[in-house]
Amino acid sequence: MSSDPYGDRGNKDASIANPRGGSTSHPVKKGGHASAAPGGPFLIGEGMTGGYGSGPDILHDCTIAVEKGEIAVIVGPNGAGKSTAMKAVFGMLDLRAGHVRLDGEDITALSPQDRVRKGMGFVPQTNNIFASMTVEENLEMGAFIRTDDFRGTMEQIYDLFPILRDKRYQAAGELSGGQRQQVAVGRALMTQPKVLMLDEPTAGVSPIVMDELFDRIIEVARTGIPILMVEQNARQALEIADKGYVLVQGANAYTGTGKDLLADDEVRKSFLGG
Ligand SMILES: Nc1ncnc2c1ncn2[C@@H]1O[C@H](COP(=O)(O)OP(=O)(O)OP(=O)(O)O)[C@@H](O)[C@H]1O
Ligand SMILES: [Mg+2]
Repeated sequence: MSSDPYGDRGNKDASIANPRGGSTSHPVKKGGHASAAPGGPFLIGEGMTGGYGSGPDILHDCTIAVEKGEIAVIVGPNGAGKSTAMKAVFGMLDLRAGHVRLDGEDITALSPQDRVRKGMGFVPQTNNIFASMTVEENLEMGAFIRTDDFRGTMEQIYDLFPILRDKRYQAAGELSGGQRQQVAVGRALMTQPKVLMLDEPTAGVSPIVMDELFDRIIEVARTGIPILMVEQNARQALEIADKGYVLVQGANAYTGTGKDLLADDEVRKSFLGG
């Protein structure tokens, strides 16, 4: 197996910013989500219903998915359940209904750690770095499941995020917000994931830094790693999205290509500020 996360994984020519024409966005009716047939999306949380512990359901028949070679973006109001849906897909929540499939395999019963072994990388919304550890130690922690030599992967991450090479011996907590997010994404890439899940990778950064982070995320996607991400910068994120999901109160409200959602009057008025 190659130790190169950006090596030949195919999909290099995938046009990740080029949604296919034809379809339009649609409000999602109950039970109206697409089903995950074999050969369906690379990663899908389908019909997910569940909440925290014995508390009330937060997710209601919620479906999110990402295809090979694509970027899928989840948007929606604060408290809509976006992070909860991501945690459910990563196995941090017990589902009362629904399932999660990775490359056709049902992984609903797997622990988060086993999902990492299966090829999932996840950057949570909060507490996604070890602040008192150096940048390099954070990357080393990211490689926790690897028994092979991961120096090459680390060099690739430093090539992707050159500022991290410069700051490799600094405590990650001393870095700027955008740099800390780079550490978090880099840490997740250390396992050479087959799919990357990012919860608000541009939270709290300036518009310029946001653009830079999006460019890096597109670069990762172009190497063949599909990306499922939550974004509060909805308009900008949908511009780079092949597929978009609007979640409201734990349920799918609108689903479509990024382009379709950006063009949808209802979505614009309610979620994109007009
Ligand atoms: N650990 C938890 N325990 C219990 N309830 C939680 C927990 N985390 C979130 N919730 C509740 O689940 C609901 C959805 O929260 P979630 O964090 O998934 O929303 P979100 O769409 O990610 O919001 P934001 O845009 O603010 O990040 C909220 O009502 C929240 O209070
Ligand atoms: Mg959230």
